[in-house]
Amino acid sequence: MTIAPDRTPTRRRVLPAGDNGSLWEARPSCGTFEFRGVRLRLMVDDPAEVLFPTDCGLSLLSALNGDGCPALEGVNALDLGAGSGIYSVALLAAGAGRVTALDINPASAAQTSMNVMANGLDVTRLTCVTSSLERYTPVERFDLVITNPPHLPYDPSYARRDGLETALVARRGGLAVYDSVLERVDTLLAPGGALLMAHSSLADIPRTVTELTARGYETETLEIFEMDIPLLAYAEHKETMLTLLKEQRAAGRAEFDGTRFTVHALMFRRPGNVTRR
Ligand SMILES: C[S@@+](CC[C@H](N)C(=O)[O-])C[C@H]1O[C@@H](n2cnc3c(N)ncnc32)[C@H](O)[C@@H]1O
Repeated sequence: MTIAPDRTPTRRRVLPAGDNGSLWEARPSCGTFEFRGVRLRLMVDDPAEVLFPTDCGLSLLSALNGDGCPALEGVNALDLGAGSGIYSVALLAAGAGRVTALDINPASAAQTSMNVMANGLDVTRLTCVTSSLERYTPVERFDLVITNPPHLPYDPSYARRDGLETALVARRGGLAVYDSVLERVDTLLAPGGALLMAHSSLADIPRTVTELTARGYETETLEIFEMDIPLLAYAEHKETMLTLLKEQRAAGRAEFDGTRFTVHALMFRRPGNVTRR
């Protein structure tokens, strides 16, 4: 994987307020997007069970279209928290050799396979695993791990116990899956490999950067996107969630302004030389 040493200053894009989903030309269960010159489409059969990607998830792919982004041809990648499989589809379309799509939600595997096939991609290069990250033991290390973890704080008042909740909400103030990524990344990523994250500003970006930098990872911010906090799914409990987010902000673990937050498309490169198998 080659990473360009010099990049222009990080671009910042401001998405319109009150219009979450603005990067899509889409209905909430079906949409198209372009990745590295290929037009791809994505469907979700049941948007209450599998998250139809939000701007937060799509922003990372948008950032990966720029100059100096990692080469994807031939990589062995882990799509961590695959959901609908949007990252698996994009990576395979861009020439990834193999993709493992991991998700705790059992509905993700069928949806990911379906989306890979619907785009005419080689489904034999895809392996779907239904497991939590915490219990997952990889058989080999990956060249690339890509993820968009849930980032909203859990509260029993709006716990829905469905796939949408698992996709958007996490314990420990929304940080639980970020915690697991930090804990497990060294066992998942091969030396020289890259962790690509759609990192929410609601989930303590400085902590992730500090922790991985201390372990010798190189950090690069590919792009920053400003957008609405996705509160639509929690309209009835919006005030509860905002109160929790304000507590997180007061504790220095979240950054947002009103109902606007940012998603940082981050690339962390693990120290060491890449050895392609
Ligand atoms: C924000 S969604 C992202 C889905 C997709 N990558 C995207 O960008 O649209 C987070 C995904 O992580 C999965 N997830 C949540 N907690 C997990 C865990 N502990 N282990 C594995 N997957 C998890 C959810 O089921 C969900 O599909």
